[in-house]
Amino acid sequence: MSAQPVKSAAKKPATLFDKLKAQVSQPLSWVVAAACLAPLAVLIYQTVTDNATANPIRYLTIQTGKIALILLVLSLACTPIVTLTNWKTATKLKRPLGLYGFLYVCAHLGVFTFDNGLLDGAIDVGAVFSAIVEKRFAIAGFLAFCLLVPLAITSTKGWQKRLGKRWKNLHKLAYVIAPIAVLHFAWLVKSIIVRPEPIAWGVVVALLLIARIPRVRKAIVDFRTRYVRFGSAPRAAR
Ligand code: HEM
Repeated sequence: MSAQPVKSAAKKPATLFDKLKAQVSQPLSWVVAAACLAPLAVLIYQTVTDNATANPIRYLTIQTGKIALILLVLSLACTPIVTLTNWKTATKLKRPLGLYGFLYVCAHLGVFTFDNGLLDGAIDVGAVFSAIVEKRFAIAGFLAFCLLVPLAITSTKGWQKRLGKRWKNLHKLAYVIAPIAVLHFAWLVKSIIVRPEPIAWGVVVALLLIARIPRVRKAIVDFRTRYVRFGSAPRAAR
């Protein structure tokens, strides 16, 4: 009897090329990357060409802060979007949106550091820290940043495996970070009546958090399956 070639069941580890191929075959991730990085490219272009308004520091702080908030809230919105529409791909966008949001938070803090800590061509960490503790809105912003760091570090599949159940619990920090970021915004606005944007953000974040409560989520799913049909509905017979 001739020996049958034994097929190895072990999976070959994915090479960098495999990973790149997987990326190229995911057009949505490219669209998200382009949409998230384009504003950063514009801000860099405006800065180097001296077109970032008469007060570039303030302009860059405000723009990076706004974009960071939008991306963090969009990341938080992914799960409620799945609950509401059953569009499961939205789950895949949670991580990239959160990471791009973190990138803008880093840029935002970078501009603040440059503005408050640059002394004789070097960054004085003590001066940056003093500037943070001086204002409650900056303390809130910095707290949000500190809480985002472990989430960004452990966002990889490797960390997800390593931490097991603890990973999910750790990533629930996102539910605290978004309200703190809104508080940061509310505290820096001089008059909430003249500029009610933080209230609008607060309402959006509150709704996104409420949609996660198991009973609310179940009610939304029940409503969707009973009354709403997303996607193409069957054509009526003529
Ligand atoms: C998750 C973290 C953060 C988010 C989402 C965030 C978001 C924002 C937003 C939305 C604004 C207002 C933009 C506007 O006026 O329209 C803002 C402004 C600002 N943020 Fe943050 N921020 C964060 C962290 C920080 C940190 C860590 C610092 C510095 C310690 C900081 C310092 C500032 C400053 C100085 C302003 C501008 C105040 C002004 O002159 O009007 N932020 N941020």
